[in-house]
Amino acid sequence: MRFLNILEYPDIKLRIKAKPLSPNEIPENITLIKDLAYTMYKADGVGLAATQVGEGKRIIVIDISRKTDKDKNFSPDFFLDEGNILNANKGLIVAINPEIISKEGHIVYEEGCLSIPKFNADIERASEIKVKALDLSGKEVIIEAQGLLGIVFQHEIDHLDGILFIDKASPLKRSLYNAALKKSRVKKPEKDASYTS
Ligand code: NI
Repeated sequence: MRFLNILEYPDIKLRIKAKPLSPNEIPENITLIKDLAYTMYKADGVGLAATQVGEGKRIIVIDISRKTDKDKNFSPDFFLDEGNILNANKGLIVAINPEIISKEGHIVYEEGCLSIPKFNADIERASEIKVKALDLSGKEVIIEAQGLLGIVFQHEIDHLDGILFIDKASPLKRSLYNAALKKSRVKKPEKDASYTS
């Protein structure tokens, strides 16, 4: 199981629209799916999209239960030993080719993203959604999600379409973050000063 490198904004690869998988391509992607889940748990995230690790495939993993169940024991190692990633950690959802088929209501929540460190913003999303996806066996499933789960689904599906939540944040917050990012990059020297001649 590998901890995958998570791409960070403004990496252009985060903007690539991911391609769907056919059911018979799922078995050859199990390692990637396990690595995605492992990386999400290790990075302390509630969701991760394949796009965020540079894989242009429509795969997302979600587990919001550590946010809602503080006492739950989240050991990625336990998760690995079990072999079956769906049963090992009860809160884990793997959705392949997820697609929102209906949405209603509005909810505003302060979001964050593993690909945009140190940035949080209130984002408005649908409060209730229905998602159509393939599970690990390639079977089509319909997931009804509301509240935080629905928000995370919408956030992760956006990633698969190359959309980041900073795009939906207020223009002021976005420009402040971009300015700070630019400044920190300008400040960073190309190489250590002691090595320059
Ligand atoms: Ni994100």
